[in-house]
Amino acid sequence: MTPAERPALALLAELRAIVGPENVLVDPERLVPYGKDESDLGEFPPDVVVRPATAKEISRLLVLCGERGVPVTPSAARSGKSGGCLPVRGGVVLSVERMNRILEIRREDLVGRVEPGVVTGDYMKAVEAVGLFYPPDPASLAFCTIGGNVAENAGGPRALKYGVTRDYVLGLELVLPTGEILRTGKETIKGVAGFDLTALLVGSEGMLGVVTEITTQLLPLPREVQTALCLFPDTERASRAVSAVLAAGVLPRALELIDDVAIRASRVAKAPFNFPEGCGAALVAEVDGNLAEACARELERVGEICAREGALDVLLAQNEGQRRDLWETRRRVSVNLKSLHPMKISEDVAVPRSRIPELVAAVQAIGRKLGLEVACYGHAGDGNLHANVLYDRKEERPRVDEAVAELLRAAVAMGGTITGEHGVGLAKKELLGLEQSPELIALQRRIKALFDPKGILNPGKMFPGER
Ligand code: LAC
Ligand code: ZN
Repeated sequence: MTPAERPALALLAELRAIVGPENVLVDPERLVPYGKDESDLGEFPPDVVVRPATAKEISRLLVLCGERGVPVTPSAARSGKSGGCLPVRGGVVLSVERMNRILEIRREDLVGRVEPGVVTGDYMKAVEAVGLFYPPDPASLAFCTIGGNVAENAGGPRALKYGVTRDYVLGLELVLPTGEILRTGKETIKGVAGFDLTALLVGSEGMLGVVTEITTQLLPLPREVQTALCLFPDTERASRAVSAVLAAGVLPRALELIDDVAIRASRVAKAPFNFPEGCGAALVAEVDGNLAEACARELERVGEICAREGALDVLLAQNEGQRRDLWETRRRVSVNLKSLHPMKISEDVAVPRSRIPELVAAVQAIGRKLGLEVACYGHAGDGNLHANVLYDRKEERPRVDEAVAELLRAAVAMGGTITGEHGVGLAKKELLGLEQSPELIALQRRIKALFDPKGILNPGKMFPGER
């Protein structure tokens, strides 16, 4: 390839001058990982990877790439599931991996400030060490980053009680594709000056600006956490129990479903928790608070309701080790499913929570009709299910895509959304119209053009027909 075909390669000297030669990667072997994520959408190696350390460097990079019309795709841990960080048009991947400092944790203000490359689990541990709590807990928390969580407005099990990433982001520093460095938002809980651009930027999938600093609110760390595993004979009864628990006015901090297919995968992959014979579905329920007795009573109620809905058994985690094993088993479901079939498409539809049993039934019917195994697991308590369509051979892909489209249509017909937490990205750009009107999509295209008039930042994503 010549520089004319790959205009990014004509910028190497200038890129090196901005970030230092050691932070400009061009060796094909080193580029490969930056062309992949957890979406299974394929490999799109960039022409160049740059690893800036400051907002100023990012500003200079974006101005340069804007002048030369070179696409820039922001990237962090590459653990996303919708292809948001894939450089589909080549060009430059802008990795924030070096921007990984926790800048401050202010106990009295219940506020923290971090760079985008901080691993979410590390931030959690750091705030917990001073008695504070950062609730958003994506399953990938051991390796995903706050920057990626902000880009995708990541959720997680605890969203049921505590909400998602956006609910914790108070303010941002970001660099616009045109190079301006801005601060949005505030450091206070309240604050209504101007449009809420922070809320717009969280979940904008790296298409409006490059976030360089994140200010989050924090909560006091609950002193008690108690976890139970409710075992059911089948998925239908487990999903009905979810609705029954919520209808009874109990709000656990997490209420997660693991269906029969996911249980089978957990057995094959030897997950830390060993599901007993006869167990065809499970719910992980977790409550928190400051009083042990109140938590125990709340969890007992969850257990009673589950028993009434046909649970075989309710097991209480007796210590931190057992709790960890339950959560490890739940968090690894996504990966473990590959022990049943090597390939899968992982969906994250959400429906109004009372309709979870209906959604589970619809997913199973679609799987039966198309002759595909589909696993259902995830955040059933907040109506957000991971329906994973499993398959063995590339040739099956058209049937898999058909199953996915049907699944998304079913969720929308129930008043739900095509993506509860993973984002549209590359994976669902042609399906956005299932949920949103042409006028709404057109308005969002105009917003994108306002922030990024030359269309250099993370092109080819979110909107139908984008290449
Ligand atoms: C999970 C990821 C897939 O909840 O969102 O496991
Ligand atoms: Zn999830």
